[in-house]
Amino acid sequence: MSVDPPRRGRARTLRRAGFAAGLVLVVLVGYAWWDSRLPATYSAADMGVADLGGGPRALEHHGHGTDAPGVPGRSVTALVAPPDRPADVRFELDARAQQVTPPGGLTFPGYTLNGSTPGPTLRVRQGQLVEVLLRNVDVPAGVTLHWHGLHVPGAMDGVAGVTQDAVRSGGSFTYRFVADRAGTFWYHSHQVSHAQVIGGLFGALVIEPPGRVEPDALALLHTYPGGSRTLNGQVGELRHLADPGAQIRVRVVNTDNGTVAAWVAGAPFRVLAIDGVELVGPTELTGQRVPLGAGARADLAVRVPAAGAVRIQLAGVSLVVGPAGATAPTAPTPPVVFDPLGYGTRAPLSFDPATAVRHFTYDIGRLPGFLHGRPGYWWTINGRIVPHVPMYVVRKGDVVTMRITNSSGEAHPMHLHGHHLVVLARNGVGATGSPWWVDSLDVGHGETYDVAFVADNPGIWMDHCHNLPHAVEGPMTHLMYEGIDTPFLLGSGSGNEPE
Ligand code: C2O
Ligand code: CU
Repeated sequence: MSVDPPRRGRARTLRRAGFAAGLVLVVLVGYAWWDSRLPATYSAADMGVADLGGGPRALEHHGHGTDAPGVPGRSVTALVAPPDRPADVRFELDARAQQVTPPGGLTFPGYTLNGSTPGPTLRVRQGQLVEVLLRNVDVPAGVTLHWHGLHVPGAMDGVAGVTQDAVRSGGSFTYRFVADRAGTFWYHSHQVSHAQVIGGLFGALVIEPPGRVEPDALALLHTYPGGSRTLNGQVGELRHLADPGAQIRVRVVNTDNGTVAAWVAGAPFRVLAIDGVELVGPTELTGQRVPLGAGARADLAVRVPAAGAVRIQLAGVSLVVGPAGATAPTAPTPPVVFDPLGYGTRAPLSFDPATAVRHFTYDIGRLPGFLHGRPGYWWTINGRIVPHVPMYVVRKGDVVTMRITNSSGEAHPMHLHGHHLVVLARNGVGATGSPWWVDSLDVGHGETYDVAFVADNPGIWMDHCHNLPHAVEGPMTHLMYEGIDTPFLLGSGSGNEPE
């Protein structure tokens, strides 16, 4: 067998081309790897790529106001509640690492606040100045507290490495904020949150409107490591005593990473509020389940029937509301999903989204690549892997729109700190019901949400997926107010790890 010279030449050329292509690939992959690594410490203000959303640019550099000639950067630490105003209500919370056994559940190595998990329910009145002293007794990785859904001052947001350093063992931190709105909220650690929240460092925060006492009950859902599914820390069925005819506001909070549904057996119900914001004109519902994405809340109004009791169900756990000894029926999961897009009565918004000066896109996808030097199939924002993601830059007072899309194959419960967003449309269909305000918005695969908000709370605010193990792997960025800087550091050498 002989190979004729031209064919041998072609084979050689092909081999060379293949080698060159291989080399290019190695160089490209090597660059992608090198480019994905993070320094041992870095500032949230230097992270990512500034995205002005088509709005005005005043400073040369996002976040780092100090880099702009003549414009002094203001530290996020200066954004506090009135320092001279005394606290109206004060709490102390001691964080510990310890073995936990939820009543009726399995033991696991977890965390407690004041010896229990969930931590104490903090109940305050709207307008009060709330002070919380957090002490870390012995949580090795450090802890913080984030006030999920509240519009706290920038320095009080509790994000390790962005608004404070994680509180080390033996250390403490005092949070001060005005409870600016009534509603159902929760708090949780924002240091190594993917481990500390599931492990127990969280609790409910209820803000009551001034001058009104409304009977309510809490239904705080949590699934602990090992799989114990609990309501208010207990496995199985829980009871809330109420007289026949009484109307109870059941405050459902999803502290899990996945979407859950709540439904009511034995009586019709209304959805009074979502994410701590009252709905306008809520009508009676039967045979529907109310979906709650990670971090979301829904207040359900139920009336105790003349005979028996009513049951609020979530897969695996339930809350029976009624007189002592009264029984409540159970119902299979209703097939119809409650949709806030057309629920309740239209009402004017507090601002006009048509006057928006910045328009952002938060497009969640998934691509192969490197994350902090590790190869994998990672979540992306606008086609980029963290840290090369957009940082949304705003100026105080800006009206902002954002289009959130998801083509990543999984749902992402998107949570913006320090603000509420109003839903304008889903998949191009405009909202027709009560204004639907959210701080936690479950965005399913293939869905598009158009939302709007007013940038009225200066700071550096995380805007991330609340499926916390996801947040470690990418869908995490910040809403940055122009000129606000942070002295705190992220990165493996900083001791701060907010996700
Ligand atoms: Cu409930 Cu960034 O968190
Ligand atoms: Cu996610």
